[in-house]
Amino acid sequence: MLTTITCGALCGVSAEEVKVEVDLALGLPAFSIVGLPEGAVRESKVRVLAALGNVGYAVPPRKITVNLAPADLKKSGAAFDLAIALGVIAAAGMIETASFKQMLIIGELGLDGSIRPVPGALPYVLLARALGCQSLMIGEENAREAAVIGEVDVLPVANLSEAVMHFTGEQLVTPLPVTPYLPENVANEVDLCEVKGQAHAKRALEVAAAGAHNILMIGPPGSGKTMLARRLATIMPPLEFEEMLEVSQAHSVLGLTSAARPLITARPFRSPHHTVSDAGLVGGSNPPKPGEVSLAHNGILFLDELPEFRRNVLEVLREPLEEGEITISRASGRSTFPASFNLVASMNPCPCGYFGTDDRPCSCAPAGVERYRGKISGPLLDRIDIHVEVPSVRVKDLSVESTAESSNTVKERVLNARQRQVSRYKKESFSANGRMSLGAINRFCKLEDPSRLLLERAIERLGLSARAWSRILKVSRTIADLDNQPNIQTAHVAEAIGYRSLDRKGP
Ligand SMILES: Nc1ncnc2c1ncn2[C@@H]1O[C@H](COP(=O)(O)OP(=O)(O)O)[C@@H](O)[C@H]1O
Ligand SMILES: [Mg+2]
Ligand SMILES: [Zn+2]
Repeated sequence: MLTTITCGALCGVSAEEVKVEVDLALGLPAFSIVGLPEGAVRESKVRVLAALGNVGYAVPPRKITVNLAPADLKKSGAAFDLAIALGVIAAAGMIETASFKQMLIIGELGLDGSIRPVPGALPYVLLARALGCQSLMIGEENAREAAVIGEVDVLPVANLSEAVMHFTGEQLVTPLPVTPYLPENVANEVDLCEVKGQAHAKRALEVAAAGAHNILMIGPPGSGKTMLARRLATIMPPLEFEEMLEVSQAHSVLGLTSAARPLITARPFRSPHHTVSDAGLVGGSNPPKPGEVSLAHNGILFLDELPEFRRNVLEVLREPLEEGEITISRASGRSTFPASFNLVASMNPCPCGYFGTDDRPCSCAPAGVERYRGKISGPLLDRIDIHVEVPSVRVKDLSVESTAESSNTVKERVLNARQRQVSRYKKESFSANGRMSLGAINRFCKLEDPSRLLLERAIERLGLSARAWSRILKVSRTIADLDNQPNIQTAHVAEAIGYRSLDRKGP
């Protein structure tokens, strides 16, 4: 007799459907699992047999074959145990198989029949939703994490017996109520108004937030670059619910969510140290796990002291910056992780930190300054629309009581500018100026003659490189949106030209 149960396997940060087929046939008693199982899945047999025995279900003395389909999907982990055990019991005729319809069943078994938590509760419930399942049966400890979307009933079970009794109808499991999430009105821990002076840098940050532009801050040590970066999220639009689910999946498979905090509700801010490996940054290992870029999905990736990062590490950033996702290929298969983030980077103007500042003389040799700046490759700079200089804040600015705008005030303007973009790009694959392709830039960033002339002259006079042209157009579009103007005007272009300091030839 053949029983089929819907289960799932983690692939990257999402879960894929796996059908657990259990067949009981006459023949010498045996138990085999087929369908590309890896280590922990193969051991499933041992756990399932022990658990069945220990909770008092005699395993029928038959030839038991468990097939995990599709066969070409690599399966790892122990999340199939519960489905396999229930399949054996059902194949033996103790449970009506019809009750498995429209249900996703996930859980690792202990030898005593208890159900252990598995990584990735959120991807599993999202799979259940995608498959149109009515319910997800999952271990008690995972259940709260899974009960964040209303469309799927989450059935928590503590052990195999509870699961069996649900299907026999002896004792139905009550679905867990949906956990309300509280993203609104959580007070920001930090606020832009705490940064004194630095009006120019704050404005650049506002433009970056309004158009989803990547930004690089250049300034001497202690000028407040890190402080500014940490406040970018406070002026960005709040996450939409689906965005929360996307970013929480990567956290969930790495075990960074919990029953108490099942969803990432605020824009993530990740700031990996410059010693991070390429695998740590973009993901890796075997099977591939998401890296910092995926934990920063829909949020901010802050690379402090950019030139200190290893070259190969900066190289691997190009794909996510371009595609908004990253694909990792291993012998065991390919995984694609979401990685659409806003890049914020900082650097000193030179190795000693004081080139071109009034604070103190630079002690670096000119070649040293050149080499330091040269560490950031052209292709990476190409993907950073805004460069802004952050000079040391003057003592007189530090000592006065701040009258600076709060993050919420700035956010109002950002939201307004984003709204304009969303309506303009209704029919496009992107919704923010910073995400425009070259073709889109030509269509949406038309300049009238005076603005065009200004830009041509600036490129010539300041010796800006060719790549500056399209960056300036995109940023001008955002500045016009912040200004509530349908057309890009000369003043908008002029401001955008000011955000290309690293494009000037020579240090
Ligand atoms: N504009 C500023 N307003 C208020 N405090 C500042 C400002 N700039 C720097 N500071 C103070 O100096 C410290 C160092 O700033 P930080 O952001 O780490 O500088 P950087 O990253 O540029 O080296 C901050 O923690 C803050 O206390
Ligand atoms: Mg810093
Ligand atoms: Zn120097």
